Amino acid sequence: MIYPSNMKKLLLFLFICNCLIVTAQNNFVHNIIPQPKTIKVAGGKMRLDDISIINIPKQNKQCKRIAQLYAKTLNLKKFKILESAKPAFTKAKSIILQLNFKENNPDQYSLTSSKSGILIIASTEKGLFYALQTLLQLLESETEKGVSKTSIPFINIDDDAAFKYRGLHLDVSRHFFSLETIKLYLDLMGRYKYNTFHWHLTDDQGWRIEIKRFPELTSKGAYRDETLVGHYSDQPHKFDGKKYGGFYTQEEVKEIVAYAADRFIEVIPEIEMPGHASAALASYPLFGCTGGPYQVEKIWGVFNSVFCTKDTTIWFVKQILEEVCALFPSKYIHIGGDEVPKSSWSLCPNCKIIKQRQGLKNDEELQSYFIQQIDIYLTNKGKKLIGWDEILEGGLSPNATVMSWRGMKGGIQAAKENHDVIMCPGTHCYFDHYQSSHAKEPLAIGGYTSLEKVYNFNPIPTSLTPEEGKHILGAQGNLWIEYIPN
Ligand code: ACM
Ligand code: ZN
Repeated sequence: MIYPSNMKKLLLFLFICNCLIVTAQNNFVHNIIPQPKTIKVAGGKMRLDDISIINIPKQNKQCKRIAQLYAKTLNLKKFKILESAKPAFTKAKSIILQLNFKENNPDQYSLTSSKSGILIIASTEKGLFYALQTLLQLLESETEKGVSKTSIPFINIDDDAAFKYRGLHLDVSRHFFSLETIKLYLDLMGRYKYNTFHWHLTDDQGWRIEIKRFPELTSKGAYRDETLVGHYSDQPHKFDGKKYGGFYTQEEVKEIVAYAADRFIEVIPEIEMPGHASAALASYPLFGCTGGPYQVEKIWGVFNSVFCTKDTTIWFVKQILEEVCALFPSKYIHIGGDEVPKSSWSLCPNCKIIKQRQGLKNDEELQSYFIQQIDIYLTNKGKKLIGWDEILEGGLSPNATVMSWRGMKGGIQAAKENHDVIMCPGTHCYFDHYQSSHAKEPLAIGGYTSLEKVYNFNPIPTSLTPEEGKHILGAQGNLWIEYIPN
């Protein structure tokens, strides 16, 4: 016999069991990256196979492209794309894409899956695209009598972006990647709603973008004689003895920019200056302080071969940027600015002249002068300059946005000086670090950054006021490629 007090205990026990079951179910469908703003699980599911139509707004090429891309990603040949003045459910189970221009919020969408099908509403095509990426992550696979089935849970999701800048970086200088690989990278970025691809195109170990005015940047600067084997710290250094390199033609760059745009990703090119310039100077030694000779580097690190600050070098760099600006429709151009040893400037008569002419007190101010010339140039072209946080040294250029990599300190200072900031501290956002303590993890640059640590990163430092915090546009993962050959 169950007494009332025991009955209460039993009910409580059943209630807790029920909560655990619901939580377990919720956890399954909560596996969406990035986590949507709200998720309500309705219980029940439908088969993906039962959906045969994607109903899209009439005469909207973007919507058609998005729907086709979705069907292609799932390799679903039987999907029919139907255009209607007002997309709505019919007898056949369908995915409905509705544009609701009332809210002008590009990243926002709602997604409801129920017995009737899937209803997606967004104020922009980009929002519709994001909803379909979420839908891809909602698919559940199971095997029934040896046959694999894919289903979609009944669910309601309202989503919006917490940050307007969601970047992923790729270094193609230390190792070179084919167009096919870059496209795969962009596909995956789109899947996880990244909206900015930071393409690190030049560095000491290879210049990777065709510049028509200066063909030797790629005929010479895109190739190194050989490459370091193993860690930099393994002494003595060993080399593979193989010539290595490659570059993207301007047509190929355009192809990547368009491919990214199709996935609502903006491409920000990075042209490194005044440091990390060995490959450029190996091609055109006259723009360095000593006149060379310089070499395309075959080991990793920071080198003294930096651009001279003389007027002719600034002219050279602006000529390059003119072609770069024409190729990339992005608002931002990244000019590097990190890790600039000053020893060649200290000894250089031309740099001395610039310092005297401009009334500069030290080499930090000389670096700031160099960056400011480029800032003025890019601003006049309607672009905005981004640089690594070293550009704070010697005074931050008026229109610059700062990418904070040596911790959050530089970003905090920049935000307090009313500059926009992208946070990518090495402690959390360097994806070239070891990611596990597994003995068989392939060679990595060093460090150890767990997935959990990355996922829990908050780009807004608590030391900023809410007003200053608005300058933190978002965060970025950086993928340096010294130890990632393919
Ligand atoms: C950097 O990692 N040198 C920006
Ligand atoms: Zn110089």
